[in-house]
Amino acid sequence: MDFKSKIKTIEWIKDKNVSRMVDQLVIPYEYKLIDINTSDDMYNAIKTMIVRGAPAIGIAGAHGMALAALEIAKKTQNQQEFLSLLKERAEFLKSSRPTAVNLMWAVDKQYDYIKNCGKNVNEMVQMLIDHGIQLENEDIEINKKIGDYGAELVPKKGATILTHCNAGALATVGYGTALGVVRSAFAKDNTIQVFADETRPRQQGARITTFELAMDGIPVTLITDGMSGYFMNKGMIDMVVVGADRIASNGDTANKIGTYNLAIVANYHNVPFYIAAPLSTIDTSISTGKEIPIEERSHEEVTHINGKSVCADGVNVINPGFDVTPASLIKGIITEKGVLYPPYEDSIKEAFGLVNSL
Ligand code: MRU
Repeated sequence: MDFKSKIKTIEWIKDKNVSRMVDQLVIPYEYKLIDINTSDDMYNAIKTMIVRGAPAIGIAGAHGMALAALEIAKKTQNQQEFLSLLKERAEFLKSSRPTAVNLMWAVDKQYDYIKNCGKNVNEMVQMLIDHGIQLENEDIEINKKIGDYGAELVPKKGATILTHCNAGALATVGYGTALGVVRSAFAKDNTIQVFADETRPRQQGARITTFELAMDGIPVTLITDGMSGYFMNKGMIDMVVVGADRIASNGDTANKIGTYNLAIVANYHNVPFYIAAPLSTIDTSISTGKEIPIEERSHEEVTHINGKSVCADGVNVINPGFDVTPASLIKGIITEKGVLYPPYEDSIKEAFGLVNSL
């Protein structure tokens, strides 16, 4: 298995009209593909994290819209009714997870693509399928660009790059964002290595990041989340690169819980801390990170490991899935349009081509 070229985490299968995805719940024990046949099943796949990672759930949302369109076309051929039922399904799909804005971006992009096209229902269904496939393919191209821009930032030969959670091929359609930077850097210098945070509570770093880097033969060392300061203090980490679930207009960035702690520790030790994310992760409708909705997840994720309780019965638990790293701790945001630097209000506007239109 080679993530560099062959694997698509999520792919539309044209002859079956289904969305096929890697089941991330069973990695690293099993590598299994699941076919998602209905928009209800897509909602559940996103909610239960069969598919996860901001760009991947964006494409899941886009495929979910194509599945919804196929379902609605069986009920009506009236264009207005079709559009209004599709809009309902769009809101339903978007409610599956709250923080990663790529989901809202892709679902809205699908709806906007057809809403004024004036075509008949069957033509609109086909447009949604084709557009979903286009977004899927573009995701890989975007990640390769992010990877190449990010590889330029690696400070030295043989560098050690620390990452948190999984922002790899399995969090996207392919190649990855933060791990896209690692892949492009490794292609230039095969003496680099990765330190991967375990990433409690769901252990995406341990389960998924180490799995996909090992598959590509990229050296990876697993550490627990609290160890990063220890290794930075010893001068063993040269750079931190993580993904993102939503970036506000001022550069504040929501990513997997624990990212904020990591950014503080990296800044204290003068280790450059970068975000790698496509422009679809930037939410220009919000000004700061305070406006980013943070997903609250099940308490069992914290109280249990592998189905076994690790704490006193009935203990109080809080389990936010994400935190927000303030822009002041972020050295740069690596996007497909290049690396954005502070002040992010300006560089983000420029990346979106908004500077002259304001
Ligand atoms: O809860 P998850 O596993 O969907 O969270 C994923 C992350 O936080 C990733 O680091 C982020 O989505 C970036 S993915 C390229």
